[in-house]
Formats: sequence, C-alpha cells, structure tokens
Amino acid sequence: MAKPKVFVTRKIAQEALDMIAGAAEMEVWEGELPPPRDVLINKVKGIEGLLSLLTETVDTDLMEAAPRLRVVSNMAVGYENIDVPAATSRGIVVGNTPGVLTETTADFTFALLLAAARRVVEGDAYTRKGRWKTWGPMAMLGHDVHHASLGIVGLGRIGIAVAKRAKGFNMQVLYYDQARRLQEEKELGVKYVSNLLELLSSADFITLHVPLTAETHHLISTAELAAMKPTAILINTSRGPVVDQKALYQALKSRQIFATALDVTEVEPIPPDDPLLTLDNIIIVPHIASASVITRTKMATLAAANLIAGLRGEIPPHCVNPEAMKQKG
Ligand code: GLV
Repeated sequence: MAKPKVFVTRKIAQEALDMIAGAAEMEVWEGELPPPRDVLINKVKGIEGLLSLLTETVDTDLMEAAPRLRVVSNMAVGYENIDVPAATSRGIVVGNTPGVLTETTADFTFALLLAAARRVVEGDAYTRKGRWKTWGPMAMLGHDVHHASLGIVGLGRIGIAVAKRAKGFNMQVLYYDQARRLQEEKELGVKYVSNLLELLSSADFITLHVPLTAETHHLISTAELAAMKPTAILINTSRGPVVDQKALYQALKSRQIFATALDVTEVEPIPPDDPLLTLDNIIIVPHIASASVITRTKMATLAAANLIAGLRGEIPPHCVNPEAMKQKG
C-alpha cells in the first residue's frame, strides 16, 4: 500500500524526521524561513498529514486546499495558529506538544527575570560600548530577586515550574488564575489572589503563563500597568498579544514600571522600527523559551508521534480535539 503523504514545514530534529520517514512519504521544507503562504497552500494539496509550527496559519482556506488532510501536528504547546473547530468539523485531528517544554520554559522565564532585575543585557551592552570606566557605587543598580514577591498569572504547568524555582530564591509567590490550585497552595506555599489588579499591585515581579484566547488578549494594558509598582518587572514568555505593547511602551518610557523582558511579541518577528526597541529598560528575545537541544528534540519527536498516530487513524498521544474522530467514517 502506498504510504500517506505528509508535509513538514521546517527542518526539525533528525530523530523525528526518521520516525516520519518510516511511516509516510515525507516532504520537508528546507528553508530557514517558513514556506510562503501560496507555496504552503500548494504543498498541502495531496497530503494526509501536516507537521506545522506556530508560524503557519492552518485555517479553513488551507484545509479546503487539502481535502485528504487527516492530521495536523503542531510542534508547540500553543495552537492558536490553527482553527481547531474547523479542523474538528472536517474530522482532522490536531496534536500539540505539552509537558516536554515545561521545565525548559520555566528555566528561561527565570533567566529573563534575573537578567531584567539585574540589568544583565544592559550591562553587557555598556561594557561593549567601552563605557565601563570604574566600579561605580551607584552604577547599574537593579532589584533583588531573593526574598522579593512574584506574581504568577496563570498557574498551569509552566507557572507551577516557575513557582518551584522562585521558592529556591526565597520569593513569596502569589498567583492569579481562573481556578484555585489547592494542591500547589499546600505543597508550594503559593498564595491565591482573586483579583488581577490586586496581584499586580502587590508583586515585585509579574510573570505571564496564560494561553492566548479572546479573554487573555491585552490582559495587560494601561490600567494593569498603572496598578504595578514603579519598581515592578514584567516577564512574558506566554504569547505576545497578552500584553498591549503600545501601553507597555508608554509605561516603560515614563518609568512607570522598572523593566520588562519579552520572549514573545504582538507581531513576530518584532518589526525593527518598533518603538520598544528604542528603550533600554526592556529585553526582547526571539521566542526562544523552549529552545534547548534536548527540549526541541523532544518536541519534534512528540510531534512526529502525534502525526504518525493521526495517519494511522488513531487519536494522537497529545490531541487537542479527540472529538474530531467522531466526524470520520
Ligand atoms: C511555544 O511557544 C510553544 O507554544 O510551544
């Protein structure tokens, strides 16, 4: 029997490509940049499986162009790039890669938190520019992380992993979420705050760990930034549009808050003329929180396993719409 056709939208770990090659006739997009939209639409025509990244929009137009498509496997935990209801109604199962990136993303959240608090990136730029002339008693003063308070918005898997790290720094951890996490309150000593503005006004550091939904779009905007302390440091490793960047620019420019570190931006990549890039109290990195060798390999092999299961007509090990199976047959 002929193997099913799949398209992989970027070169991923070889281990994962080998898995897919054993189960399917595979085409891999070799470009460093994502396939242009018209190319992608053309590539999906005869395929049964698509391994996509966050950079591909998998919408009804794409699904219409791919009548044989049975599985979309996203190599990411987030899947806001995919129209899941449209996939479900067509019997297309959608996979994602949760769990494997939790600890790596939490490590990186802490790296950003420490770097913003202690002005690591600014200090490096200062040194390279030849501005380091002496040991200055008042130079490059930042804020202590140890014994400070940390406000976690969204105490899911990654939020919990960040809370565990914070405990090692003797931080007081507060959290805001739709649901209370009584087990974590008991085990980690984290304290629930039922009101977002109250959390934002009490915490020294604020870190965002919510998925992007209609409710979380611009969750942090003018009023929320105004509620923060003037010494507050905001970290975002979730999704760019959770923060209203225009409001953030104003808050940082006027020193209404101390600093921010972003792994994600409203538009990715951030346009080079974005005003945020003119500020010295912000760190912006290119969506790399899960980018360790081991984690990206695990994400790729999990995405391959999801893809292969979907091709076999099984529910992928990590499936966001198992109900799509009911549409088959
Ligand atoms: C990365 O941001 C992911 O969702 O995996």
